[in-house]
Amino acid sequence: MILYVVYYEGKYGCIQDSLVGNLRAPFIRVNNAHMRKESILSHLEGDLMHVKLFIPGPVETMPQVLAKMASPMIGHRSKACAELQKRISEKLQQVFHTKNVIVLSTSSGSGLMESAIRCCTAKKAAVFSVGSFGERWHKMAVANGKEADIFRVPLGQATQAADVDAALSTGDYDLVTITHNETSTGVMNPIAEIAAVIKKYPDIVFCADTVSSMGGVYIPVDELGIDICITSSQKCLGLPPGLSIASVSEKVYQRARTVKNRGLYFDLVSLYEKARDKYQYPSTPSISHYFALDYQLEQILAEGLANRYARHLEMAEFTREWARRYFAVFPDERYLSQTLTTVTNTRGASIAELNTELGKRGLAISNGYGELKEKTFRIAHMADCRLDEVKEVTAAITDILGL
Ligand SMILES: Cc1ncc(COP(=O)(O)O)c(C=O)c1O
Repeated sequence: MILYVVYYEGKYGCIQDSLVGNLRAPFIRVNNAHMRKESILSHLEGDLMHVKLFIPGPVETMPQVLAKMASPMIGHRSKACAELQKRISEKLQQVFHTKNVIVLSTSSGSGLMESAIRCCTAKKAAVFSVGSFGERWHKMAVANGKEADIFRVPLGQATQAADVDAALSTGDYDLVTITHNETSTGVMNPIAEIAAVIKKYPDIVFCADTVSSMGGVYIPVDELGIDICITSSQKCLGLPPGLSIASVSEKVYQRARTVKNRGLYFDLVSLYEKARDKYQYPSTPSISHYFALDYQLEQILAEGLANRYARHLEMAEFTREWARRYFAVFPDERYLSQTLTTVTNTRGASIAELNTELGKRGLAISNGYGELKEKTFRIAHMADCRLDEVKEVTAAITDILGL
């Protein structure tokens, strides 16, 4: 069901799509497509207007996917629920390019990130950070009483395979974390080069944060030897937030079994066993997300993964060109993200004010993250976003700033 906001005789109201045909009042669809927008924009108050998100998660979610969230409940221990999780797992294995077990968790991506570092670090973790989300992984290790060293590079730079090699060759570590796509700086790490180095160390558990890239960029998990590859529902997969998704290797499971104090809710051993043996989840999962994910994965596979990656790249290339023309791209040019563009605010524009103006046009971008706030801004082009929408938001920025 699609809802429309209607303005009629000085009042606002919400109606279903089936009734729109009967209406002579101005109306606006509450999701992607705006209808007869101009006629009511002057009347609609900002908070009633749907603001199209170009922020790096949560992303715009297709109305059909949202509608699946409203499916009637089924029991979480039922055969139907296990079948649902099986279907989801098989489709996710295609998206992740893996044969590993798919583990779902009712949490955001951080849930399984914390689980990975807590349950799989027996000796010491080597955390390679290129920005805020690498820092977060280190904080998780420390908060869980784990030994961990953090290896940083200047913001905008990428992790270098040689640095990973140098750290691992000390023999001090048994786990490594890599951020594939750093959402704060817009850096995409050279994961294939890094993975090639990690393969030299068979005792290392290789954890990859692909929260803002899985489903938008080709990440062949098994070929790269990623032991636990984690993503969130609200980024390139195009769902509402609330699910953490990971592919988990047998090595992860065997390591986790040797580690004490793994906690309960995020215990990777029980998550893995329940998923592997029964397509179940130890606690009550967000079944609404399962319905939506099952449907959305169907759409993703129907689009074709190669087409999906190409669409993301095309949007990224357009946005980078626009950024170079009017501003500058923030990251090192060799390591640009394909799912979001972090733009250096070379003109010293107020990003907060820019976003207020964009909001009046039903659009939203992101300010810079953390210490990059106001110094940069971010335009996400992920999930079901299309090139014409990226053109729309960049044209709006050009217009608002009079570039
Ligand atoms: C690269 C990266 N890692 C981890 C996270 C944390 O994910 P979540 O907010 O789903 O817990 C985010 C969130 O934006 C992210 O972009």
